[in-house]
Amino acid sequence: MANFIKCEKCGSILGMFVKGEGEVCSPDLTKIPVITEGEKAPKHKPVVEIDGDNITVKVGEAAHPMDDDHYIQFVAVSVDNELYAKCFEPGDVAEATFTIGADKADAAVAYAFCNLHGLWSSE
Ligand SMILES: [Fe+2]
Repeated sequence: MANFIKCEKCGSILGMFVKGEGEVCSPDLTKIPVITEGEKAPKHKPVVEIDGDNITVKVGEAAHPMDDDHYIQFVAVSVDNELYAKCFEPGDVAEATFTIGADKADAAVAYAFCNLHGLWSSE
């Protein structure tokens, strides 16, 4: 499972590649909680499609807005010790395909980050 951190001071979002001991120790950095269910899940929870070596991540069963003030900023896939990600701008289609290998697809966990509604996970 991947971990993502947000800087409350500048708004940057960081992927955590190596976890240190204890919790994040800077007062400006916060581990982003992962959401998997709730009333906003239909538009946020990543949907994964596997086709051979490829995994495609779409955001939500229903299309999520990609407006200037409300959009999906990135999707990511974590599998074993690998992390794949794609970032988006308003107006983009929040969908990404990564080649991870058919043997790893079942272990993949997908993430989607909405600038207003947080970090969502496929599981
Ligand atoms: Fe949203």
